[in-house]
Amino acid sequence: MQDDKRNKFYVTTPIYYVNDVPHLGHAYTTIAADVIARYKRLNGFEVSFLTGSDEHGQKVQQAAQELKVEPQVHVDRLHTRFRDLWTRFNISNTDFIRTTDERHKKIVREILQNLFDRGEIYKDSYEGWYCMPDERFWTEKDLVDGNCPECGRSVDKIKEHNYFFKMGQHAEWLIEHIQANPSFIQPESRKNEVLGFLSKPLGDLCISRPKARLAWGIPLPFDDDYVTYVWFDALINYISALGSQDDAKNGGFWPADFHIVGKDILTTHAVYWSTMLKSMGLPIPSSIFAHGWWTVNGKKMSKSLHNVVEPNLLIDLFGVDAIRYFLLREAPFGQDADFSHKALIGRINSDLANNLGNLLNRTVSMIKRYHDGKIPDPGETNAFDSLKDDFASALPEIRKGYDELSYNKILERIWKLVDAGNKWIDVKAPWNLFKTDEGKKELAPVMYHTAESLRAIAVLIYPFMPHTSEQILIQLGVEGGPEKQSLDSITNWYGLKPGTEMQKGERLFPRIEEKQEQKIQETLDAASKNNAKPKTDSKDGGLADPISIEDVMKLDLRIGKILEAEKVKKSKKLIKLKVDIGFEVRQVVAGIATSYEPEMLIGRSIILVANLKPAKLMGIESQGMVLAGSDDGQIVLAGFDKELPLGARVK
Ligand code: MSP
Repeated sequence: MQDDKRNKFYVTTPIYYVNDVPHLGHAYTTIAADVIARYKRLNGFEVSFLTGSDEHGQKVQQAAQELKVEPQVHVDRLHTRFRDLWTRFNISNTDFIRTTDERHKKIVREILQNLFDRGEIYKDSYEGWYCMPDERFWTEKDLVDGNCPECGRSVDKIKEHNYFFKMGQHAEWLIEHIQANPSFIQPESRKNEVLGFLSKPLGDLCISRPKARLAWGIPLPFDDDYVTYVWFDALINYISALGSQDDAKNGGFWPADFHIVGKDILTTHAVYWSTMLKSMGLPIPSSIFAHGWWTVNGKKMSKSLHNVVEPNLLIDLFGVDAIRYFLLREAPFGQDADFSHKALIGRINSDLANNLGNLLNRTVSMIKRYHDGKIPDPGETNAFDSLKDDFASALPEIRKGYDELSYNKILERIWKLVDAGNKWIDVKAPWNLFKTDEGKKELAPVMYHTAESLRAIAVLIYPFMPHTSEQILIQLGVEGGPEKQSLDSITNWYGLKPGTEMQKGERLFPRIEEKQEQKIQETLDAASKNNAKPKTDSKDGGLADPISIEDVMKLDLRIGKILEAEKVKKSKKLIKLKVDIGFEVRQVVAGIATSYEPEMLIGRSIILVANLKPAKLMGIESQGMVLAGSDDGQIVLAGFDKELPLGARVK
């Protein structure tokens, strides 16, 4: 990794196809990039962290046609699903690029013109097999049983004139570069895949599509009858987001330190992108990390298999940090892993509730009891340094883990420290020390070091679980949040100020009991049944008639909190709610029982249509309507990223 690049760090995710429904696989890559970005910030780096959406191509054009809307209107609507999910997952990206952004299109066209002027792009007639869904040409020998080698679908023979990028001339130096730079393609095991690809003759790359066949793309600057091939367009996002090809003008972030991608798109990054950069005269990225896939029952998650794990629902059920933790703890980052809710609940109960939650709860309650809720004094002696030494010795291993993106090893190492903290309490038994005068002398240093270990853990888990980290620091009375702490503060220890008053915080990671687990499973089963049904109607298009601002202002929308929730007898859909809207409590009957259990709703913030005329549903009066959206029958309640006061008006 290039840590010397003037203290700047650049990490990217793939830009996701806008027509896909965001699923846990997409979240995995983005969370992984977020973790390294946050870690680098803790180390004082200036971080540029890019994600975005890939918005051109045949599939988008087709979908827009079916909906009878302009492709631009279609992608404007769709891309927000990714943006919103990243906000929910607490992703700290510094930019979100869309391939339909003017800034992107401009740079793509500049690059194309430049390569064309220098003879790196030429026109030729081409005959080959074309896979429409993948938008890729294949040669006869690439085909598997006459079908597309990538997706297995049928291919069409196409003969046409197209533009080609001279990729074939680049094999030699690229092979040498891969061999001489072990960290260029990570993990090591993926290197051979790329070398294998390069050992066969490397052809030139067809980078255009005739407009007659596909109009939804960036027009070639030198021939208006063609648009740019989606991959040639998409890969350039990593440069266009920086604003310029010129290092001096782009803030000095290039070359990227890490392109994090799934293993499915390693070749396009390692070969297409590297050769494109070389002919543009730009350095190639320091590292491309290809991670494994999340599968469900052994099959890759995909929209067409109707087996995607819906991340919004998981967040509702388990919380953001539990999922961030699970995804990166469960499997080595380079390898595939099979997703199961059982495994997720297992991790929440053992690692989060039993180990971390326990350390936090015990520490906070003992300091309250023995020291009046104030951080005690560690005293002058170093007789209590063993816990401090445990942490200091873990740090080099953790840093190394980040260089290799071995997230699961980093977390495993941090959890050994959590265990060390719990063991320290067991061995020192503060409750016994409290009983005698002699013991009381040791009590303060023992409790100081316990609390300090918790502060150190909060800093260490910050990249993975930013919200939890913040909450722990709040409870310890530390001001300024995790980003104000540094990794060095772990070796230096003594970060807590004696005498600081601890604060009340959220209850973190309550255990998921068996009874609850069953309910959760039922909710998930219901959701996956809905998910298994192919989409029959799409609500993306067909907007209702326009209304005026006066019409909008007639709606009185208020923030409320659910106080009580119970199923309406004999109804599969209805739940009766008591909703506090600040100035009064309303009874509301909501049709959300197929997606929510009453227990999940208590304490949740909602948005209520507060001036709806009361109506009776199954004989029960409903005094308002709760706002929610739905996707294939899965209902998702509307809410806000931050708590707002009860009764606040929503406009
Ligand atoms: N648009 C291209 C990328 C262009 S980058 C210049 C694309 N988009 S995608 O929407 O299909 O996203 C692919 C990426 O999503 C994968 O590389 C991976 O990062 C992530 N994942 C998609 N499905 C996944 C799993 N089932 N498991 C893990 N990650 C997966 O390809």
